[in-house]
Amino acid sequence: MRILTTGDVRMAPGISAEAGAILADLGAKRPLVVVDPVVHKLGLADKMLSGLDDAGMVAQIFSAFSPDPTDAEAMDAVQIARSVNADCVVGIGGGSAMDVAKAVALLSVQTESLRALSVPRIVDLPALPVLCVPTTAGTGSEVTRAAVITDATTHEKLLLLGSSLQPKVALLDVDLTLSCPHRVTVDSGLDALSHALEALVNRNATPYSDGLATQAMQLIGKSLETAARVPGDHAARSDMLLGACLAGMAVSHTSTALIHGMSRPIGAAFHVPHGMSNAMLMPLVTEWSAVSAPQAYGRAAKAMGLAEDPAALIDALKSLNARLEVPSLESLGISQDAFRSAIPEMARQAVASGTPDNNLRRADEAQISDLYLAFLKNDATS
Ligand SMILES: [Fe+2]
Repeated sequence: MRILTTGDVRMAPGISAEAGAILADLGAKRPLVVVDPVVHKLGLADKMLSGLDDAGMVAQIFSAFSPDPTDAEAMDAVQIARSVNADCVVGIGGGSAMDVAKAVALLSVQTESLRALSVPRIVDLPALPVLCVPTTAGTGSEVTRAAVITDATTHEKLLLLGSSLQPKVALLDVDLTLSCPHRVTVDSGLDALSHALEALVNRNATPYSDGLATQAMQLIGKSLETAARVPGDHAARSDMLLGACLAGMAVSHTSTALIHGMSRPIGAAFHVPHGMSNAMLMPLVTEWSAVSAPQAYGRAAKAMGLAEDPAALIDALKSLNARLEVPSLESLGISQDAFRSAIPEMARQAVASGTPDNNLRRADEAQISDLYLAFLKNDATS
């Protein structure tokens, strides 16, 4: 067992204002700040940016990236980082901003292409230090050693994995999550739930990851719906922020499994938000996988406060999706024909990601195609 984790995680309301002082202690002077464009517009990064100013830093801001950031956008940021001789990278926003920050920290130092550095390669190469400030409770990217960047040419989601992607510092500032919109709260919260679940039912699980994932399931199970319905609920938002962070730590240790393996290609082909496509797949993939590992899925159910029974977990995931209005393919305007014809390529990409192999019930390309078909059939009858 090897435990890799972000060494400095601080959680307190308003803590993002301390980023400058913390970076100064690391000896950094010229941060490139990757800010989600919406977060920037709403002023959520202002306190953090003032803190950088107060610490005497000259920050360069980069916000020109899309919700599914591409390698071309990341390379634009790398050019800026190199031109100002940036010595650290800050990521503030949801998973996209943090993933861009982490990729830029690596690519500013390395000369190989993003594709050449992506999975199956594990990158343990020098990179600039990264400080992350999540404004959503979801990806846990602030503590994971992974970043997902889309290939602008092929639209494939490339996974960067390794200690080079591990942020040095994560600042959990609940104040920044209180204004998170309803749909983003739901999608990112269900992403965090899928991380906790996939860490618990994973071939790489250890007592370390089980402890983190169990706590994450409890916190998210308890507070996701409250955070979605009462956006200003401080306690629920705090539970979600910490739950997403613990789930991130857990899944960074185990990697994801079949849900994420099948979800990323849907996101790449149809631009469905990551947490949403995970949520759409979660009940079906759980039902299929639990057949071979009822005890592990029973434990996951128990962690969510349910009876220790896979059937209870499957029912809860279905009803959670219904209550949180997770959409169908049809309601997203994705036609049956378009989805069906994308299945061979999506199944290929799912297998190529390597994560279906971490599932307790392993799925080959043909089984993944069948699962996509079953998903389509369910969607048509839902
Ligand atoms: Fe995820």
